[in-house]
Amino acid sequence: MRAPQAKLAHLEVCLGPECEYQKSAGFDQVELINQAACDISLGSTSIETQFLGKKLKAPLMIAPMTGGIERGHELNKLWAKAAEHFGIAFGVGSQRVALESPELSKTYQVRRYAPNALIFANLGAAQISQGLSLDLVQKAIDMVEADALFIHFNAVQEACQDGDVDYRDLSKNMTQLCEHYAKQNFPVFAREVCFGLSPEATRRLLNMGVAGIDCAGAGGTSWAKVEALCAKTERRRKMGFRFGEWGIPTAESIRNVRQVSQEIPLIATGGIRTGQDIAKALSLGANLASMARPMLLAAHVGEAALFELIEDLLLELKITLFASHRE
Ligand SMILES: Cc1cc2nc3c(=O)[nH]c(=O)nc-3n(C[C@H](O)[C@H](O)[C@H](O)COP(=O)(O)O)c2cc1C
Repeated sequence: MRAPQAKLAHLEVCLGPECEYQKSAGFDQVELINQAACDISLGSTSIETQFLGKKLKAPLMIAPMTGGIERGHELNKLWAKAAEHFGIAFGVGSQRVALESPELSKTYQVRRYAPNALIFANLGAAQISQGLSLDLVQKAIDMVEADALFIHFNAVQEACQDGDVDYRDLSKNMTQLCEHYAKQNFPVFAREVCFGLSPEATRRLLNMGVAGIDCAGAGGTSWAKVEALCAKTERRRKMGFRFGEWGIPTAESIRNVRQVSQEIPLIATGGIRTGQDIAKALSLGANLASMARPMLLAAHVGEAALFELIEDLLLELKITLFASHRE
């Protein structure tokens, strides 16, 4: 099943709880230390940050999810409005369908709702590996007036759904792409979707010349389970569930990247569910934390619920930084 029907099925399945990992993202093993006697006020505790030369009001991102269908357009609009309002980053879902059917481009075009937000375009590593032209990559970037590009890596998900599994030219084509955009000072990020990055994978991505990484790990939405729940046949369903718990937990994935590079701009996704999780991801070395499924659940209820979720996350983050602040 390929998009756009797949896009709708993904949204529907992700509204239910069965798509989540049982194993933890690892933040429950990270303790932030209470600091009881600091000379600070909650009001002056700042959560602002700089990322890719842009000032963000908080180190948070609405992770890439959708586009290509009308419901996806409505959701992208809501998330873009929220990104603008809260001064956070946002990514659209894979734009492959819009390159194949340009009339679907409008479902990704939400820049007018977020004129100042940091917006990421999104394409798949499989497409790059199979030789997607630089012209088409540029089309995807222009389509959403993006500030940066995500190339998503999801080999296990693709294999479970009998999708794109030929990555033989990955390094060659990714290196070419990264070189091209490095000359234009336009950031190309590699992002796992939920299976995490090992130190070896991180080294390989850095050698390809990526300008940043999203190390999305296990512990939140499991994309093998999503494919199992969307499968058309019983055998594919079983195969998806066999890999349902596959992947490096997000906390470990952050450590793996930082073990290899202290400098590379790093986003952490996968099982980030609370303001304290955001603070823990930052304490392990991420520059931004990013959330998908919780943003979907809230946006599904409506704009007020989405805004309330983000407001509460940011307040919890602020209280966490206030309570664990060191002089
Ligand atoms: C409905 C839905 C669709 C998604 N589609 C994409 C996509 O098109 N491209 C991508 O890079 N990641 C996609 N993701 C993956 C998320 O960005 C994220 O990496 C993953 O869901 C783990 O984060 P979470 O535990 O907060 O959900 C999607 C996630 C959801 C929930």
